[in-house]
Amino acid sequence: MVLGIETSCDDTGCAIVDSNGTILGESLHSQLKVHLDHGGIVPPVASDLHRAHIDQVVDEAIRASGVDIYDIAAIATTNRPGLPLSLEIGLLKGKKMARDLGVPFIPIHHMEAHALTIRMLEKDVQFPFLVLLASGGHCILAVAQQVDKFLILGQTINNAPGEQFDKAARKLNLKVIPGLENVCGGAAIEILARKGYSSAFPFSTSMTQYQDCNFSFAGITMNLYGHVKKIQKKFDLVDGDILPGLEDLCASYQHAVTKHICQRLQRAMEFVDRKELIPLGQGPRAFVVSGGVASNRYIKMAMEVICSEYDYKLYAPPPRLCTDNGVMIAWNGVERWKAQSGIAENLDDVDFYGKCPIGTDISQEVAAESIKCKWIKLKALRQMSEFVYLDEAQR
Ligand code: KG4
Ligand code: ZN
Repeated sequence: MVLGIETSCDDTGCAIVDSNGTILGESLHSQLKVHLDHGGIVPPVASDLHRAHIDQVVDEAIRASGVDIYDIAAIATTNRPGLPLSLEIGLLKGKKMARDLGVPFIPIHHMEAHALTIRMLEKDVQFPFLVLLASGGHCILAVAQQVDKFLILGQTINNAPGEQFDKAARKLNLKVIPGLENVCGGAAIEILARKGYSSAFPFSTSMTQYQDCNFSFAGITMNLYGHVKKIQKKFDLVDGDILPGLEDLCASYQHAVTKHICQRLQRAMEFVDRKELIPLGQGPRAFVVSGGVASNRYIKMAMEVICSEYDYKLYAPPPRLCTDNGVMIAWNGVERWKAQSGIAENLDDVDFYGKCPIGTDISQEVAAESIKCKWIKLKALRQMSEFVYLDEAQR
């Protein structure tokens, strides 16, 4: 059994997971409401809240598990990447516990944990697999070759999709809409988008001039701001006012983000085939999507269309395990324990790192291939999604 601690951003999480992937106990304290009120995450505030809740969250997870704390084999804790002031709180707690209990300590890379969570739930996901990590701080397309070996095909060159969803939701002032007061930006946009037409507003596609797998979402959000400005002018509104046609605007924005992600994914699948990075076995290959943005059903539906064309099966953890939590850290500890990789030799040498790349970056190699794709018909996808979403909303 491994106890995992997560404090890299705005969630204080702890869980105890055994080597079969059974969650014995877990606890999570979310700071979402406070940060929504602040209009974004304020690092010292996040750190203070972690400090105020960490002991209680860990105690709760242990109590819920009913496990004797002396039966825990190791402590795993996120130490990279993330907000330094937040990482520090979890790391201090994790190291202290490892010292007090006299057990090994396993420092965890937050993105590796997002990538591996699915293996706790789906034993079919074997290495190597293709993975997209899309969250509030990252967007990474990679081939996971081993627990500790990732080939990075592409990543964001500026902002992460979750961060952009949050920014867009703030611009549209969605938090004043009844029912959306306490949900994060991405989820708020998805909820409204379900009732809208994704073809209502035009959005340009990002990065079409670059034949690589890197991402950029900032332009799509600028595009949204342009639409907001026009609507405000037309209806004589100011920032903060709820816009008419909000559902259509959210649906169109979500579609533009989805299209960009799908185009990069399609190229990544072409590259994987060219370089034979993931062998075709008996069944379809695994494509894993994780991180907060992987909670989005529309994005997953679109990616499923791409997967079926390239003979992949899409795997995504349930939303509660896509966003930050202690379970994914404990499970990553189990994976590292089994592989006997990355267990700290000397606790005093373990530090925290705000920035830390994962794996080997081969994005230049991907770009050098100049892969031109015959884009999978997104227009049909758009109509299909509209149909499914409207149908669902009406039901
Ligand atoms: O993985 P996560 O909990 O934290 C980071 O490591 O960043 O991801 C949080 C991000 C937020 O930006 C949030 O807006 C986004 O995930 N998110 C979503 C959805 N649910 C959460 N984005 C799009 N659609 C959703 N349903
Ligand atoms: Zn995360």
